[in-house]
Amino acid sequence: MEKENEKDYEKDFHPSNTMNPPTLLAPLPYLGLAVFCLGTVILARAAESTATLAIDATKPGPVINKNLYGQFSEHLGHCIYEGIWVGPDSPIPNTKGYRNDVLAALKTLAVPQLRWPGGCFADEYHWKDGIGPRETRPSMFNSHWGGVVENNHFGTHEFLDLCELLGIEPYVCLNVGSGTVQEAMEWVEYMTSPASSPMANMRRAHGRDQPWKVPYLAVGNESWGCGGNMTAAFYADNYKRYNTFIKNYVPGDANRIQRIACGPNEANYEWTETMMKNVPAHQMNGLALHYYTIPTGDWKKKGSATDFDEGQYAATLRHTLKMEELITKHSAIMDKYDPDKKVGLVVDEWGIWTDVEPGTNPGFLYQQNSLRDALLAAINLHLFQAHADRITMANIAQMVNVLQAMILTDKEKMIVTPTYHVFEMFKVHQGATALSLTLTTPDYVVGETKIPAVSASASRDAAGKIHVSLTNANPGTAITISAALTGVTAKSVSGRILTAPAVTAHNTFAAPHAVEPAKFEGAAMANGKLTINLPAKSVVMLTLE
Ligand code: AHR
Repeated sequence: MEKENEKDYEKDFHPSNTMNPPTLLAPLPYLGLAVFCLGTVILARAAESTATLAIDATKPGPVINKNLYGQFSEHLGHCIYEGIWVGPDSPIPNTKGYRNDVLAALKTLAVPQLRWPGGCFADEYHWKDGIGPRETRPSMFNSHWGGVVENNHFGTHEFLDLCELLGIEPYVCLNVGSGTVQEAMEWVEYMTSPASSPMANMRRAHGRDQPWKVPYLAVGNESWGCGGNMTAAFYADNYKRYNTFIKNYVPGDANRIQRIACGPNEANYEWTETMMKNVPAHQMNGLALHYYTIPTGDWKKKGSATDFDEGQYAATLRHTLKMEELITKHSAIMDKYDPDKKVGLVVDEWGIWTDVEPGTNPGFLYQQNSLRDALLAAINLHLFQAHADRITMANIAQMVNVLQAMILTDKEKMIVTPTYHVFEMFKVHQGATALSLTLTTPDYVVGETKIPAVSASASRDAAGKIHVSLTNANPGTAITISAALTGVTAKSVSGRILTAPAVTAHNTFAAPHAVEPAKFEGAAMANGKLTINLPAKSVVMLTLE
């Protein structure tokens, strides 16, 4: 079953017949012993408040693709306008129109790749409206998100120049729903062709001589829903048609554009099956999966971002752990058709989706971000890393002012969220080699909800340092972890911790530092053994060297 008109009440102008019913998540059954990644991470039951960890550096796993740490920026609410782009004439300090505070925060985050222009917006976006002198660009109606008028001041040049400025790889979503193959083909030529060809020359006329590098293209977004309400078979045919006309204008394997097909919504396994059966692996580099965590499990009343009790906190994390099942089951289907894992699973929309902040436009999806969300982000990143053999990219939704944002802005003010801090702490995992890890954890139990209290991931970077990230979801109990290390020559351990007095804690414009990382003193190494006293409701990153 696909999503229902779950999001319609958010999308003031979204026709209700374009969405399918929401999937209410069944309670995640307790996994007495769950194998997370082909034996890489094993999770088992243990006595309360102690856990064991075994890291075997002699068994390196796959490289953790840096692209698991990707972001998403849609023309939605104040993500682009006010969040990233204020225009060169703004009194808010900016560089060529991009706000300086946001640029600096993103630089620190080492964002590997950025998805744009949507989301649902992508399938109504016509790129030629967003080039040329800004004052003459035609405007359009943003039918999905608040029914606002989009002035197209942020277009292809503004997006690709932003990526260039920050060293981010662009991930551009083509318009399949309301666009044409010709339009998509010309856009790719405009962006990437070095030739003296019509579109490349149009780009030059607009001030950009050299093509940009655009390594990733999505062929439509949510084509099963807001992107056209297609069947999987119809979309598969369309995918192949679009794919045929996406050309590589720069020769050489290193310059080949990676093509990402629209994949399943949540547990729509039939979609995955149809795509994998109908599209040969050499014709697609990735298949996109979308899954959002809804605190209540009910799209019509999702729950507050900051006002929730412990029952809802635990239920939220249980819902987020559904990601493990989705990855495993979609991967199993992919394995059947693509045993060599040529097609990546691309989780290009994920994160927590709560009710909007009171008094804000429901179509702008503006929500606060608490310590709960930091834990949720870390748990998902651990899952992605545990499946790094199949998952090649992921994009949290979204980067600024929308859903589980890294950054919130209010006119000239900017704050970073607890989720930002997790991405910043975890950036050491980007491009590192995953290490085999066996974890035995107590449960965290609230009423009917039972989830593993601890989650963890370990990697070794190019310099040989080992990074171990850990979460303790239990908000009331610290957990002592005894970690056995095999093949690790490191002598010392240092770390940082993200925690706060309550899981509802969050940063505000008045108190921007309520939740931020601090030095962690709770880990010690002796005789090749590592002991960690993992505080309640915390995310910890350790470095062993
Ligand atoms: O991220 C918000 C929206 O959620 C995106 O536009 C769409 O792809 C998804 O339904």
